[in-house]
Amino acid sequence: MKLNKYTLITGASQGLGKAFAEFCAKKAHNLILISLPNESIDVLSKELKNKYSIQVITFELDLSKTENITYIVNAISNLDINVLINNVGIGGTKKFTEVSLEYIDNIILLNMRSLVVLTHQLLPKLLDQKAAYILNIASLAAFSPIPFKTIYPASKAFVSSFSRGLNTELKGTNVHVSVAYPGGMTTNKDVSQRIHSQSKLVKLSILPVSKIASICIKKLYNKKAIIIPGNINRLSSILQRIVPLQIQLSIMRKKIQKEL
Ligand SMILES: NC(=O)c1ccc[n+]([C@@H]2O[C@H](COP(=O)([O-])OP(=O)(O)OC[C@H]3O[C@@H](n4cnc5c(N)ncnc54)[C@H](OP(=O)(O)O)[C@@H]3O)[C@@H](O)[C@H]2O)c1
Repeated sequence: MKLNKYTLITGASQGLGKAFAEFCAKKAHNLILISLPNESIDVLSKELKNKYSIQVITFELDLSKTENITYIVNAISNLDINVLINNVGIGGTKKFTEVSLEYIDNIILLNMRSLVVLTHQLLPKLLDQKAAYILNIASLAAFSPIPFKTIYPASKAFVSSFSRGLNTELKGTNVHVSVAYPGGMTTNKDVSQRIHSQSKLVKLSILPVSKIASICIKKLYNKKAIIIPGNINRLSSILQRIVPLQIQLSIMRKKIQKEL
């Protein structure tokens, strides 16, 4: 009997991470799902096991703590993992002068450090596979600074740079790294509320998370280094490169100030 390998997904209890879990389960991947402690990861795990007859292992741990990453890596050391999806990420809209050190650390440790540490710790296992894939989730926000969000886009620019550098470093090995830059997605309550108050064009650019997950996984397997799901989002990424940054920043300042 052929034993299917495991796909590890961070931030898998809701939003895009959950959509990745559902897509991969349909394709008969065994899963390792990570989220913060809550009931939804267990509900999801049971549903996927029953529906697709796959193995699902869950961890409810805070990935911003390095000891939790070490614990997870040790606990799964006997499993064959061939896909790592670094999906977890948080952000927010606040004046930089008003944020706490805890707020800053949460974003930096989760969006950047946890992704790098997990990748570093799992890479030896991935290099042991015949073919292995890493998908890192950045954001369209990676392409330019954003006032009143400052840390989030900077963290996603880091994810982008890290991913592209690592993919090039690993050329000639069996491990491929893609980085995805989704636009807005109606996932958690905060983001959904913000998206619903935006222009028609922004609303038109919104794709269902199931569609984004399917685009990302297909392109990951096709070894695309860069994935920008959706035509409007691709157009927007081109405009971000063409329109002078100073103009973009002053438009964003006016727009985002209204969200505060
Ligand atoms: N939503 C957007 O508009 C948008 C746009 C572009 C890019 N992105 C990126 O896409 C990715 C997914 O975003 P999303 O909106 O789908 O997220 P989401 O709906 O807010 O879900 C977040 C997931 O991460 C888990 N999580 C949060 N903090 C954690 C921690 N410290 N340790 C372990 N797990 C933690 C949550 O677990 P619990 O359920 O247990 O809390 C949940 O499973 C992120 O990297 C985000 O930056 C999002």
